Parts: sequence; C-alpha cells; structure tokens
Amino acid sequence: MKKEKLGVGFIGSGFITRFHMQSWVAVRDADVRGVYSPNRKHAEETAAFARGLRIGDTKAYGSIEEMVQSPEIDCIWLCGPNHARVENVERIVEALGKGAKLVGIATEKPLARNVAEGKKIVELVEKAGLLTGYLENQLFCPGLVRAREITWARGAAVSGRPFLARAAEEHSGPHMPWFWRGDLQGGGVLNDMMCHSLEVSRYMLTKPGAPRTSIKPVQVSAQIASLKWSHPDYIQQLKDTMGPEVDYGRHPAEDFARATVRYEDETGRPLIAEATTSWSFVGAGLRLSMELLGPEYSMSVNTLESGTKLFFSRKVQGSAGEDLVEKQNAEQGLMPLVGSETVEYGYEAENRHFARAFLDGVQPVESWRAGLEVVELLMTAYMSAEQEKALAWKPEGLENFIPAVARGTWKG
Ligand SMILES: NC(=O)c1ccc[n+]([C@@H]2O[C@H](COP(=O)([O-])OP(=O)(O)OC[C@H]3O[C@@H](n4cnc5c(N)ncnc54)[C@H](O)[C@@H]3O)[C@@H](O)[C@H]2O)c1
Repeated sequence: MKKEKLGVGFIGSGFITRFHMQSWVAVRDADVRGVYSPNRKHAEETAAFARGLRIGDTKAYGSIEEMVQSPEIDCIWLCGPNHARVENVERIVEALGKGAKLVGIATEKPLARNVAEGKKIVELVEKAGLLTGYLENQLFCPGLVRAREITWARGAAVSGRPFLARAAEEHSGPHMPWFWRGDLQGGGVLNDMMCHSLEVSRYMLTKPGAPRTSIKPVQVSAQIASLKWSHPDYIQQLKDTMGPEVDYGRHPAEDFARATVRYEDETGRPLIAEATTSWSFVGAGLRLSMELLGPEYSMSVNTLESGTKLFFSRKVQGSAGEDLVEKQNAEQGLMPLVGSETVEYGYEAENRHFARAFLDGVQPVESWRAGLEVVELLMTAYMSAEQEKALAWKPEGLENFIPAVARGTWKG
C-alpha cells in the first residue's frame, strides 16, 4: 500500500541541513525523521531543532547504516561536506545490500568534486535502483520560475527564443574552513558556487517542457583568480578566523571565477551563458542574480533588491548577525531584508518537489545525471582557466581531470 508520507533522514547537521529543515514546514509529503552527523551532540541538537519546528518525530542516529536501515526512513537528503560525498554514498549503498529499503536519495551541490567521483556515485545509486535528486535550489526560486515561464510564453513566443543568460552568485566567503581548502572542497569559488550559476543559465535558456538535451554545449572559456584572499593582510585574517590549515600563502584557492559557455539549440543557433561568481563581494550579503535576454525582451532577478529595507543610524550598534540576509556584512545604514530566505532562494519549492516525486515513485526533474553534467562543465571551466584558452566540448581527459587548486599546486 502506498504510504501517505515518506520519512526523510538527513546526513550532515550543518548550515544547509538547518536551511532545509526550516523550509520543511511547507512540505506535506514527507516528515524529517532522522539526522546523522559524526558529531553525536550536533546530531542530537539538530534533531531537537527539527522537532521544535514540528516537521517530524526526528531522531539522531549514530551511523549512516543505522539510519538507512530504520523502517522510519524512506529517503536520504545528503548534506555532508563535499569530501565525504563518495564515502557517504558507499555507506548508504552498502546498507541497502544488507536488506535496507530506500526510495530515493537527494544530494546537495556540487554532486561531486570531479568527474571521476561523480561517475562513481551515479553508477552506485543507479545500480541500487534509487531515484535521484540533485538539489539545485536556484531552479526553484519562485520569482525566477515565474519570470522564466512568462518570458518564454510572451516574449519568446512572439519575437524568438532567448539567446543570452547571465547568472552570478556572490558573497564575502564561506562559513566553514573545509570550503576554503581546495583539497577538501574540490576547488575554490568556481566549484562551490558556479555550479548554481551554470545550471540556472542552462535552465533559463531551455524552453519550458523541452528536454535538457535540446541545448548542447559547444565551447567553454573561463578564468579564475585570487583577487582578495591571498593578499598578505587577508592571508592572516583567514588563518585567524578559519584556523592555521587554511593557509592562502601556500595553498590559495580562487575567490573569483567567470565562465562563458556557448551552446547551440536544435537548429544550430548559438546561445551564450555567462556565469560569474566570487567570495570577495562585500555588499549587504549573499547576492543571487539572473538575467535572460531575447530579441525583444529581457528579465532579471536580484535577491538583494528584495523590496524591504531597514535603516539603522550610527547610534544603533549591535552584535554581528545573519538576521537580515544570508552572509550579512553589516548591521547599520540602509540594509535590504529578505522576508523568507527559505522561500526566495528556492528551498521550499525544491523540497516540496523532491519529496512529492519520491512519494509518487517518479524521477524528480533534477537527477544526479544533471548534477554530473554540471560537474563536467565545472571541470571544463577549470581546464580552460588553467590552459588560458577556450575549449571545445567535451575536452579530452575530462574524466580524470583534477583542478590544480584541488591538487594544491595552484599558485594564484
Ligand atoms: N544549496 C546551497 O546553496 C548550499 C549552501 C551551503 C552548502 N551547500 C552544500 O551542502 C553541503 C554541506 O554544507 P554545509 O554548509 O551544511 O556545511 P557544514 O560544514 O555547515 O556542515 C557539514 C555537516 O556535515 C557533517 N559531516 C562532517 N563529516 C562528515 C562525514 N564524513 N559524513 C557525514 N557528515 C559529515 C558535519 O558534522 C556537519 O554537520 C556541501 O556539499 C555544500 O556544498 C549548499
């Protein structure tokens, strides 16, 4: 008999798990019933956080195997750090081999740190017969979803398809040391954040309802640089805040990246996606921007132009916080406020979509195959940046390519 609700188990109890949990109050097809983290205390605290939100009877589990084997758990939201991705998937699949049952597994971005790791985990889960979800939240931002629909329905229908997409994600730097370390994270800001911008550009350029193969990459050109964080003053600041292992004097990672992907549509017409991203943007806080341009129209989204603003005079001095916007940089002056970040950044609609698809036993719109295509684009961008030239798609050697930043040999 079909279940009325699924039980979700989270792997990882950090920043993104809590974001997902806050969005879960708007998800009806699944309850959050488990959390695993190597740190038992964090798992217990995050399970209590979930119970406080009344999103399920959430328990902390001592191992991935124990959680996957629990009859309460039907699907997994994989939210561990990038360097644990392969090991986490191996442990899930191993538990399945011992008789546990799951419907599907959704993972955070990036799918993997490189193409070889990505292929490995895709093969493992497909062999295990699981439905897969690639959690690209930006494809679910309500303003973007609606703007894309109307742009295509009105502008493209009358004057022709859009030909240029631009997307950017920028903030002043990640919250945990492992993100800054190329060896653990897989790269710098290109790997960490351009995965969003490349997928959202491809989404905007693809006709609603058409298969993603309706536009094909033809050429990738990219550039990376360390513009801020390998300056001597900032090397020290990073060590002070993130610990001595984050040493940008010896092993920098890029804090700026830009990539241009040339696609072709079904008729061979050229389309361009421009993505740019940075960890050195000191504005009010996280800024997601998207634009789509066609012959007689354009659309744009900028999450910092939220419509709500607060002003605090210089006499209002309080502690640093993230209560106005993610990765907030100031508490005074004129500041934008994002009313509901879980809604605006797409988490609510994202989790509703994936939970419903898993409950219905159908493949969600974003699969791990889509995530793997994004990893292929990211690695081609690193290759292009290293070789300082545009590369035809798909370049030789992509399968075994590891960026110099991840190998610790990039000098900035
Ligand atoms: N969609 C987005 O915009 C977005 C934003 C932030 C992070 N992310 C992604 O989410 C993932 C987690 O990021 P985060 O910001 O929550 O990081 P985090 O460091 O805040 O949390 C990571 C969690 O994983 C746990 N962990 C550590 N080692 C582990 C292991 N071996 N197995 C399982 N869990 C382990 C940690 O204890 C912690 O609870 C990353 O892949 C990141 O790229 C996505």
